[in-house]
Amino acid sequence: MSIRVLLIGKNGQVGRELAEMLPRLGDVTALGRNELHLENPDHIRDSIKSAHPDLIVNAAAYNAVDRAESEEEFAHAVNAEAPGVIAEEGKKIGAGLVHFSTDYVFDGAKDTPYTEEDIPNPQNTYGRTKLAGEKAIQQSGARHIIFRTSWVYSHSGGNFLLSILRLAGERQELRVVSDQSGAPTWSREIAAAATTVLAQITKNGIDGDRLANVSGIYHMTASGSASRVQFSEAILEEARKYSGGANWYRTATADRPLIATRITPVRSDEYPAPAKRATYSVLSNERLTRTFGVRLPHWREQLNSFFSLE
Ligand SMILES: NC(=O)c1ccc[n+]([C@@H]2O[C@H](COP(=O)([O-])OP(=O)(O)OC[C@H]3O[C@@H](n4cnc5c(N)ncnc54)[C@H](OP(=O)(O)O)[C@@H]3O)[C@@H](O)[C@H]2O)c1
Repeated sequence: MSIRVLLIGKNGQVGRELAEMLPRLGDVTALGRNELHLENPDHIRDSIKSAHPDLIVNAAAYNAVDRAESEEEFAHAVNAEAPGVIAEEGKKIGAGLVHFSTDYVFDGAKDTPYTEEDIPNPQNTYGRTKLAGEKAIQQSGARHIIFRTSWVYSHSGGNFLLSILRLAGERQELRVVSDQSGAPTWSREIAAAATTVLAQITKNGIDGDRLANVSGIYHMTASGSASRVQFSEAILEEARKYSGGANWYRTATADRPLIATRITPVRSDEYPAPAKRATYSVLSNERLTRTFGVRLPHWREQLNSFFSLE
């Protein structure tokens, strides 16, 4: 039985991939920022009323981690208030909500992977606004699934991988922070895993009981972990092997040959940025695997697949 899905944030890294995959589940209405301004609650309500979905998937967010320090009000409107309005409006029409959150809800004080039971303690404005969004959804009483992911990259948009490629064409030495570890995750793998989970819940139309049973937070990242230095080294290793023909690669490198020959590890405090980042934000994905039988590939395997696409 086909369901109606409303995808919010169709132009983001994860949103673009979801726009390709969600039609497996039913009729998809996909909105970008031009069609729906999340800082406007009335606009959100009207969009949901008019789409009247069975399922809402919110892939939009204010993701500029450093800029959020000086734009807290706007970041809060998009990351905290908007998800609350989406959830409340969804609840009124009986729609389920799928939302994405972040590893930056944690402070990084642990040195083993964070589980969903660990107490969040965000270290920056972005993390605090995303955590407030999670809470607003939980308090709405809407049936929901929140996937917390991390270190997202894709073939376009702003991300660490594309920045390393650009810099590798501009400089011989790249200075990269060595004291931040996480799980670099390809947006396509996130969208594929989320779609697999949703296919289970919606295979006979929207299964409200099943969704109610599984409502909650799930960590969804690549398996394994890397420091930013290890991730950068792997990016350069793949880039050196890469034939270099695809548009995304030519855009990222501005068509320059790679000249970077070394990566110099630096500590976060030698590389000042407006937002503090957790030194360790690896997430345990066990709940996701236990509940839905879904496990994302290892980050190194994902990176290899990412570079294999022409
Ligand atoms: N990127 C990461 O490293 C990362 C890490 C952990 C968790 N996450 C979470 O994963 C999810 C997907 O992230 P992503 O990397 O795919 O994000 P993204 O590429 O930054 O895309 C976010 C989308 O949200 C839209 N948006 C921003 N402000 C908006 C507003 N006021 N009204 C309507 N739309 C607005 C953006 O529109 P424009 O295209 O017009 O800017 C963009 O298309 C988010 O919940 C994010 O917090 C991301």
